Amino acid sequence: MPFPKNFLWGGATAANQIEGAVTEGGKGLSTADVMTVGGHGVKRRITPTLEPDTYYPSHVAIDHFHRYKEDIALFAEMGWNCYRMSISWPRIFPNGDEAQPNAQGLAFYDAVIDELLAHGIQPLVTISHFETPLGLQKYGFWENRQLTEFYLRYATTLFEHFKGRVKLWLTFNEINCMSTQPWVAGGIDSEDESVRMTAAYHQFLASAQAVQAAHAIDPENKVGMMYCGHFAYPNSCNPNDVIGTMNFMHQMLFYSDVQCRGYYPRYKLRELERQGITLPIQPGDLDELKRGTVDFISYSYYMTHVTGEKTQGILKGLNGLDTGYKNPYLERSAWGWAIDPQGLRYSLNLLYDRYQIPVMIVENGLGAVDTVEPDGSIHDDYRINYLRRHIQEMKKAVELDGVPVMGYTSWAPIDSIALSTGQMSKRYGFIYVDLDENGNGTLERRRKDSFYWYKKVVSSNGEDLD
Ligand code: BG6
Repeated sequence: MPFPKNFLWGGATAANQIEGAVTEGGKGLSTADVMTVGGHGVKRRITPTLEPDTYYPSHVAIDHFHRYKEDIALFAEMGWNCYRMSISWPRIFPNGDEAQPNAQGLAFYDAVIDELLAHGIQPLVTISHFETPLGLQKYGFWENRQLTEFYLRYATTLFEHFKGRVKLWLTFNEINCMSTQPWVAGGIDSEDESVRMTAAYHQFLASAQAVQAAHAIDPENKVGMMYCGHFAYPNSCNPNDVIGTMNFMHQMLFYSDVQCRGYYPRYKLRELERQGITLPIQPGDLDELKRGTVDFISYSYYMTHVTGEKTQGILKGLNGLDTGYKNPYLERSAWGWAIDPQGLRYSLNLLYDRYQIPVMIVENGLGAVDTVEPDGSIHDDYRINYLRRHIQEMKKAVELDGVPVMGYTSWAPIDSIALSTGQMSKRYGFIYVDLDENGNGTLERRRKDSFYWYKKVVSSNGEDLD
């Protein structure tokens, strides 16, 4: 059996993509709540304040806030032992800078977490998944060091309140998105590299402090970092392409280097020096980073890239995915993401070779348009095929390469609002939700074919993938 008995199987979601109830229970607005719907090739707009007659998909989302019991029952029916969820920061601290948490927000997550535990599902909580409280705009969001204090107050509140019930945590979702999608990563709306690097520095510091707090509050807590799975192959064996790829990967991997090793890698320090960027380091900070290294590394995996001489630094273009090259050996999803199951095995090896700590895949899935048949069934064999091939490669990484993989939570087990486009038509779920791009629909849930398939995968601990 390649997967150990305690292997974690489940799904992953983010509060702003499923909960809705945008101002209910005392919740404040977040950076996610001022993003409109875009489309394939169309950017989502970020509005400074809420505009009348504009549809904001996070405001109702799939109404998980009111339907969490039904959703968790469906997760349990698939036999999961783990669920990666996020807690909405502005549900707990509506403006982000209050001295005391919002009791109603904590009560909602008490109910969700107790429901999970009653079904034998262990929660893995992302503390901040792309929703910084909008009330922190007046500070300049993560460009301001004070955010580290607000974040630590929030994280500590969670560690204390959920002590004994939640033991697995992630500090920031896809922290390397500060270089590719800085608004979602931390409310940064600037092209200025020094602003982005300052914001990233503050998140590193906040994460390191939170890791220490988590360990002090409950030694059983395990805290991970979460890397947005950017992995690149050189376009050719031309050394110029290889060096271009190395430079590209450095732009991404320095984030996990800092969080896993506890210090900035030399290649990054040299680059910052060349760029004339000085990090806002204060006395004691570097020790904080060292003391706050993570216990495990987690990441999202959807695709691989091709990079080379032409790739200019970080990814540009829509959603930051344009490297200037395409892989001729790979098919692409309807949204243009290159489908590469072997890349999953490659990336597991790359990360474990680099850090030698346990690895977890906390997102993997296929965004596709689904069709509901007249009898209500949804035949998503394309999704089953995608997931099967990826799980097979994860298995090889465990069995053949010996990578200690902790678990696998697919994205997203239930159709939800797509992050990059805000669309509902980009569906990932095992569970279909009746809702369209403009917010019309009954919100009724339906099991897709993949639901029954994943149930078999989980109950056989990854043995039965047929
Ligand atoms: C990851 C995010 O980048 O990718 C999720 O952590 C997101 O929030 C997922 O939903 C898939 O991207 P998209 O744009 O298809 O929803």
